Amino acid sequence: MRVLILGVNGFIGNALTRRILTGTDWEVFGLDVGSDRIEEFLSEKRFRFLEGDISINREWIEYHVKKCDVVLPLVAIATPATYVKNPLSVFELDFEENLRIVKMAAKYGKRVVFPSTSEVYGMCPDKEFDEDRSSLVYGPIAKPRWIYSASKQLLDRVIAAMGTAQGLQYTLFRPFNWYGPHLDNVDAPKEGSSRVLTQFLHNILYGRPIKLVDGGAQRRCFTYIEDGIDGLMTILENPKGKADSQIFNLGNPSADLSIAQLAHALIDAVATYPKFAAAAKKTRIVKVSAKDYYGEGYQDITTRVPSVAKAKRLLGWTPKTDFETGLRKTLDFYLKGRKPPEV
Ligand code: UGA
Repeated sequence: MRVLILGVNGFIGNALTRRILTGTDWEVFGLDVGSDRIEEFLSEKRFRFLEGDISINREWIEYHVKKCDVVLPLVAIATPATYVKNPLSVFELDFEENLRIVKMAAKYGKRVVFPSTSEVYGMCPDKEFDEDRSSLVYGPIAKPRWIYSASKQLLDRVIAAMGTAQGLQYTLFRPFNWYGPHLDNVDAPKEGSSRVLTQFLHNILYGRPIKLVDGGAQRRCFTYIEDGIDGLMTILENPKGKADSQIFNLGNPSADLSIAQLAHALIDAVATYPKFAAAAKKTRIVKVSAKDYYGEGYQDITTRVPSVAKAKRLLGWTPKTDFETGLRKTLDFYLKGRKPPEV
């Protein structure tokens, strides 16, 4: 199989590429603006890479959509601070650029595996979010935080409609707070440029307080990347066509933590690494308002638990990694071989 991954250097793209190259005989064609996470694959025969931009390298993309069997358009802005600060760039990249790719796949009769998001459920009151029954609930236009999920949701709908009207072969998958090695750069100094786990780790390593937005009672189900990749690989293998025209939540309902619990778990886990114990023990936890942290345009999601019954039934997939194990593997990646901070 020939797999085209746009955004191959991203958190999901690089982990998926590693799994494909080590576990199958498939070929990967990848595009990204950077290559720091995929350097080890660059000399691989079954991996071809172009350092380029989804909005510029259009001919390369069209040629490879034609050449490949399946297209994964993984290029997206995925940090909530950007949804609030620069909503238009989120719409342009996450929606407009990806729509172009999806239309191209439809034109050439190629299969699309598209990353929807846990965020599409928004403030849905259901205890467990069901792919085919839960409502998708957003706040007012004055809260641009929702432009990301609205963009993703509309693409989900467009792809599904193309499936019905034009026979597009597709699968949508919804990652629920995937984490693990290569999530974000913990040395990136900008607040909000990272997702919560790597933001908190950055704060510990740089002697800054951990900030709990609105007290940290809001909850997320943290899903270890390799579990997510297991699900994604089964979707790509598509046994008996069971992934066709389906949406799958890929999340870990049993790793449901409040953000305050995450902060404490992280501090405790970092404290078990002797070089970082002092920094961990010194870390203060403070409370900040969402308005002060993100600005007026933010609105939060208080609980977000996936139903994974469909993924189990059709794909035989269940998440296997408990939070403690996943956190340990993540911290080994970020901390082993790193110099201790000057605290
Ligand atoms: C994320 C992002 O939108 C995407 O990466 C993705 O589509 C999706 O969820 C997912 O991975 O499922 P969210 O979970 O809100 O959204 O993003 P984080 O930035 O990781 O924040 C999680 C929670 O921690 C939020 O409630 C946020 O307010 C809180 N937080 C974040 C803090 O309390 N302090 C911080 O310093 C940073």
